[in-house]
Amino acid sequence: MRETKRVQKTPSADPLPPLPDNISIKDYIKDRYDGADDGDIFSKVEQFTLVERARELDLYPYFQPLDNNDGPVAQIYGKTVLMFGSNNYLGLTRHPYVIEKTRDAVLKFGTSMTGSRFLNGSTKMHEELEERIANFLHVEAAVIFTTGYQANLGIISTLVDKKSVAVVDKAVHASVYDGCQMSDGEMMRFRHNDADHLDQILSRTKKAALVIVDGVYSMGGDIAPLPELSAVCKKHRARLLVDDAHGLGVLGEGGRGTASHFGVEDDVDLIMGTFSKALGSIGGFVAGPHPVLGWIKHFARSMLFSASLPPASTAAALASLDVIEREPEIIDSLQEVAQRWREGLTERGFDVGQANTPIVPVNVGDEYRTIVFGKALLEAGVYTNTAVYPAVNMGEAILRTSCMATHTEEMVDEALGTFETVGRKLGVIS
Ligand SMILES: Cc1ncc(COP(=O)(O)O)c(C=O)c1O
Repeated sequence: MRETKRVQKTPSADPLPPLPDNISIKDYIKDRYDGADDGDIFSKVEQFTLVERARELDLYPYFQPLDNNDGPVAQIYGKTVLMFGSNNYLGLTRHPYVIEKTRDAVLKFGTSMTGSRFLNGSTKMHEELEERIANFLHVEAAVIFTTGYQANLGIISTLVDKKSVAVVDKAVHASVYDGCQMSDGEMMRFRHNDADHLDQILSRTKKAALVIVDGVYSMGGDIAPLPELSAVCKKHRARLLVDDAHGLGVLGEGGRGTASHFGVEDDVDLIMGTFSKALGSIGGFVAGPHPVLGWIKHFARSMLFSASLPPASTAAALASLDVIEREPEIIDSLQEVAQRWREGLTERGFDVGQANTPIVPVNVGDEYRTIVFGKALLEAGVYTNTAVYPAVNMGEAILRTSCMATHTEEMVDEALGTFETVGRKLGVIS
């Protein structure tokens, strides 16, 4: 779902073995959507053989089971690798204080709430987390969901009705698109990070609009131009929702996110976030004006009809907030690591685009070369995420890399060395 961007031309020498005839990335879409007309809904499953074929060729990069994950270092297939493919931006999943608080919560409240927030699934700890998030973001209130995905479903489907429209940046996260689908309203899209195009789109509709953008885009790592976008929203009396899954704990004053980064907190109507990235836990939230959140809380089906955040995850998110508030310097460490990583890759000839966050996409272009590159890096000791069509446009495949505050300079330099050696061997750089 990324917007078109400049893609590095791979050098003409192609050291890769030819891709076997029986496999094409486009098969994925074909297999997935071309159901058979034989009246059996399982028939398409039998047609979907791409994964099996990719596995046979040892070219399947997904669902790979880690043996262990210590944060910046992980073990996989019995081998230790440097982790450059995690959203654990601040390394808090292994922070001793976060682990201690999480363990205490399990001992006190047990392993699950076994019910929705609406009924038996709320504790004082859940309410405390909501209050802490609201205070942290300097807004009136917050409501937590069991995942960020569910938060987007709940926020959008309750606010966008038959008489209104969701206007989304083309590159927003899948959960935003799914929230729009769940709503009764219309959806319109504007060009990625293009405030003028948003202006044109909003001029075309008389309906009340909810404009939705990501604060930081999860694949490209680029930041939404909130000052321009919020000015356009104001002009059209549209409300602005920012999905700050990758901005929270990463950007802004003390990690307060993308709106804080630009100093436009008062111009954003709702902030959605997740605990599953910088906050080292799992769970989602929406933060904003009290009455709006009261509405969402009582109508969001993704919250009302799903069990609430478990005690362990609630405590982990609370403890992570404690750490961020007490040790905001870890955010500076994250930025320093990201800068060293980005500059190191650029110096070695990799195209990492213009983004300026801990998400650093390495643009490769060709799908097959990207898959082989990711696999070879893993074998050489660096874990990255392979993103090919349809996650990105065809021919614009990337390795999505991401930094952590707990990466040491030595780890960054070692990973850079591995990128250079493997990248050169495979013709990604010359
Ligand atoms: C931009 C964005 N929004 C929402 C989500 C969903 O969050 P969660 O993992 O908490 O369900 C993600 C996670 O990948 C994301 O990247």
